[in-house]
Amino acid sequence: MRSRVAPVTIHIILEYRDSMFTLRNFAPNDLPRIMYIVAESFNQDYDPGFYLSLHSYWPDAFIVAKKGDELIGFLLGSVTDEEEARILIMAVDNRHRVKGIGTALVREFMSRCGLRGLRRIVLEVRISNVLAQKFYIRFGFEITNKLPRYHLDGEDAYKMVKWL
Ligand SMILES: CC(C)(COP(=O)(O)OP(=O)(O)OC[C@H]1O[C@@H](n2cnc3c(N)ncnc32)[C@H](O)[C@@H]1OP(=O)(O)O)[C@@H](O)C(=O)NCCC(=O)NCCS
Repeated sequence: MRSRVAPVTIHIILEYRDSMFTLRNFAPNDLPRIMYIVAESFNQDYDPGFYLSLHSYWPDAFIVAKKGDELIGFLLGSVTDEEEARILIMAVDNRHRVKGIGTALVREFMSRCGLRGLRRIVLEVRISNVLAQKFYIRFGFEITNKLPRYHLDGEDAYKMVKWL
């Protein structure tokens, strides 16, 4: 008879200035809060299946930040080929921004990409989202090109790349 081993959830506890929060992998019951934060941050809705299928593809690329019981931010990434990862969406609840949560999520994702042997991380960001561009530049991301009408509403995007 095969023994059954319960899945282990790894929590990373971080303290930044006066704020204490934890990082762990996404679990399906996180979806309502994630969908709320996405709607609030981007005024956009994605089907739950979008999140769940990406999660099943590479679970380590879907990281959530929690303060106590409350989910306060997340990063959803993916792997596009044997060398490249992509940050698809990341957002922090606007009541919890500028407290180091976004930095912790990006650092953790970069570290996981390094452990997987990936060479670069790419992302697309709206040209109007100057704050996010500056945020990513702090980690060594560079703007490589402009993607005309990349977004559904017709706005251009910048492609940004970070070499690991
Ligand atoms: C971009 C985003 C994820 C950053 O998350 P965050 O938790 O606020 O980021 P951090 O607290 O780690 O900030 C990192 C640095 O950026 C700076 N910064 C972040 N937001 C800032 C703001 N609104 N004004 C000024 N500086 C800001 C911080 O000062 C910090 O620098 P410091 O450590 O030298 O003080 C968050 O602003 C967000 O969710 N934005 C809406 C969604 C979005 O645009 N996502 C990215 C596009 S895909």
